[in-house]
Amino acid sequence: MTWEPEIIAFCCNYCAYAAADLAGSKRMQYPTNVRIIHAPCTGKIEMEHILDAFLKGIDGILVAGCLEGGCHFIEGNLRARKRTDHIRAILAEVGVGEDRLRMVNLSAAMAPTFVESVQQMVDTVRALGPSPLREGAAAGQDSSRHAESEGRS
Ligand code: FES
Repeated sequence: MTWEPEIIAFCCNYCAYAAADLAGSKRMQYPTNVRIIHAPCTGKIEMEHILDAFLKGIDGILVAGCLEGGCHFIEGNLRARKRTDHIRAILAEVGVGEDRLRMVNLSAAMAPTFVESVQQMVDTVRALGPSPLREGAAAGQDSSRHAESEGRS
């Protein structure tokens, strides 16, 4: 079976989601292996959300928020930028690769930039290959399925 990158795009509920929505309504094409997850603001995306997604075998994550100075929660996107940089450093240190996580700032009208960012993320992750955490995630799922089939959980 050929591997396809699995990507999550965490989009803030305001500008980033509006840009993604605009891309959809303009019928702009972007890869279908990207799942969009709504967040109230990028500042509400905790480190655990990102690390947990990687531990579950996601290959790459895009964090999309409002332009700097445009966050509806004032400094949420600035906090998210710091957090993203911190997690990128961790990903580099543990050998997962910092480029599997990126943040982009968008206005609601920036549908082409949203599409471009998603495409770049998919291309980068495709070049990096499957996440090294993917196998561990699959093994974890297999053992829990095995335990369920034996009546354990
Ligand atoms: Fe968009 Fe905060 S509301 S980043």
